[in-house]
Amino acid sequence: MHRTHTCGELRIQDAGKTVTLSGWVQKSRDLGGMTFIDVRDRYGITQLTFDSDDDLSLRGRARELGREYVIKVTGTVIERSSKNNKIATGDIEIKVTELAILNSAKLPPFTIEDQTDGGEDIRMKYRYLDIRRNPIKENLLFRHKVSQEVRNYLSALDFCEVETPYLIKSTPEGARDFVVPSRMNAGQFYALPQSPQTFKQLLMVAGMDKYFQIVKCFRDEDLRADRQPEFTQIDCEMSFVEQEDVLRTFEGLTRHLLMSIHGINIEEFPRMTYQEAMRDYGNDKPDIRFGMKFGELNQASQHRDFSIFNTAELVVGIAVPGAAAYTRKQIDELIEWVKRPQVGASGMVYAKYNADGSFKSSVDKFYDNQDLQKWAEITGANPGDLILILSGPTAQTRSQLSALRMELGNRLGLRKPDEFAPLWVIDFPLLEWDEEAGRFHAMHHPFTSPKTEDIPLLETDPGSVRANAYDLVLNGNEIGGGSIRIHDRHTQSLMFEHLGFSETEAEEQFGFLMNAFQYGAPPHGGLAFGLDRLTAILGGQETIRDFIAFPKNNAGRDVMIDAPSPLSPEQLLELNINLEPTK
Ligand code: AMO
Repeated sequence: MHRTHTCGELRIQDAGKTVTLSGWVQKSRDLGGMTFIDVRDRYGITQLTFDSDDDLSLRGRARELGREYVIKVTGTVIERSSKNNKIATGDIEIKVTELAILNSAKLPPFTIEDQTDGGEDIRMKYRYLDIRRNPIKENLLFRHKVSQEVRNYLSALDFCEVETPYLIKSTPEGARDFVVPSRMNAGQFYALPQSPQTFKQLLMVAGMDKYFQIVKCFRDEDLRADRQPEFTQIDCEMSFVEQEDVLRTFEGLTRHLLMSIHGINIEEFPRMTYQEAMRDYGNDKPDIRFGMKFGELNQASQHRDFSIFNTAELVVGIAVPGAAAYTRKQIDELIEWVKRPQVGASGMVYAKYNADGSFKSSVDKFYDNQDLQKWAEITGANPGDLILILSGPTAQTRSQLSALRMELGNRLGLRKPDEFAPLWVIDFPLLEWDEEAGRFHAMHHPFTSPKTEDIPLLETDPGSVRANAYDLVLNGNEIGGGSIRIHDRHTQSLMFEHLGFSETEAEEQFGFLMNAFQYGAPPHGGLAFGLDRLTAILGGQETIRDFIAFPKNNAGRDVMIDAPSPLSPEQLLELNINLEPTK
């Protein structure tokens, strides 16, 4: 038998028992006549002792154990003379009588400790060692708990988990496809799903009524802290529902997760339209854990001779709490921050609303106290606050001020990881103008239904048509999104037409769905959560890589197995792929 207990299990009540443990050597110490070894497994750490009274060969072998050796020991549980209250097994130790080395180990390339000396690259290359460390291990266990709670909750509501295929053809979710060549169909390719969108809709036509799936999705897009090329969705779809039903159901799921994982009860999730989110936070996924709402200052600033504001489409500011005391140097640093290419502002105006009620601004030449008082009212500034103002084209200026707001939220410690502020953003626009392509594309995806009352606008002002589409935002991150779908062939064709698909193209790409709609498609809708993001945020973090067992790096590579990699000429030939440049 390899073990009677795990390394995290034994307590003072077990004193006197003979036990067998297996695990990895965390560290060893020689103190006078004693050798101490910490043995570790997934469940914890237990201290082993070997003293000089032991037979020499046993202690001698213990002293030779290197870090990360795999061992099995048998011995007696005894009370420790000096207790360690930092670990659950800290009251006891094992006086070892038998030691077996199950495997030796090379010296690991970084320390297997909570705070490791290993950089990101080396930890990725040896991810299996990184996972031995508590922070990563805990994240994976946490992710398991989230998935399990999701399965329990949805199953109890009669959702059925159905697997959909990975070798399919393109699903338009706005990214590039990863493609897989077909050996049996020369010159043809599968695409990996960007999401199971069309399949889940077909499952509704098939009468499955309530579907979910915890499923891998693949998107060839530029990577960021919250994006991986393969990631996991909790993908859901329901029949005979309206938007309200979908929002209620998944608000319920999110509430259940917050309660079961953190014991936090949030009654009703606030809702905000896309328009309001953009106006008040410059962003369609606002972090509402803190204020600093935007105040639009066009009216209150375009009546003087300050031409920068007068010629701007939008003048907009925020009040930074308690920042009126910032020094010139601190303010200059913020101005430099918004002028960095990543943000791209050309400059920033500030107005200090001093604690004594006086004002001091960088535009005192143009504006008097009455003007500044008005700005304070509009931005919600109180004495002691600093008003920061950007101006320029609306969309761009909003996005710049939003970046500044988030940065200040971080710097001022207003984005507390243990505080949770969910928010529904609703009434997304149906279409988005694609400058490069010179045409509209679907903001969510082409299967999203327009709001009935806005359908006539499709002909006259397509950009203003609202969709029955919604996002679930948690702490400033989009953790889920979905929509009510089009379920009749006619509206779906109309939609493809507006998106610039010819009839043949639409038929070629989505004929299967349009055909299915002719056989009694029920009204349906749903949403998908990003499981990696949801887990990271519930875990109080924003980098999803730390919650994925084997993630890709920023260049989309798995540096552990070294993928992607070239294929052999034989394999290429078999796949009918000719990499020679065509003449
Ligand atoms: P959407 O494209 O909004 O919707 O995706 C749903 C959620 O998936 C997460 N997500 C990602 N997570 C990590 N890495 C990525 N590259 C990545 N891309 C998206 C986000 C996002 O909110 N089929 C629709 C859903 C529907 O309409 O039902 C869809 O895929 O958290």
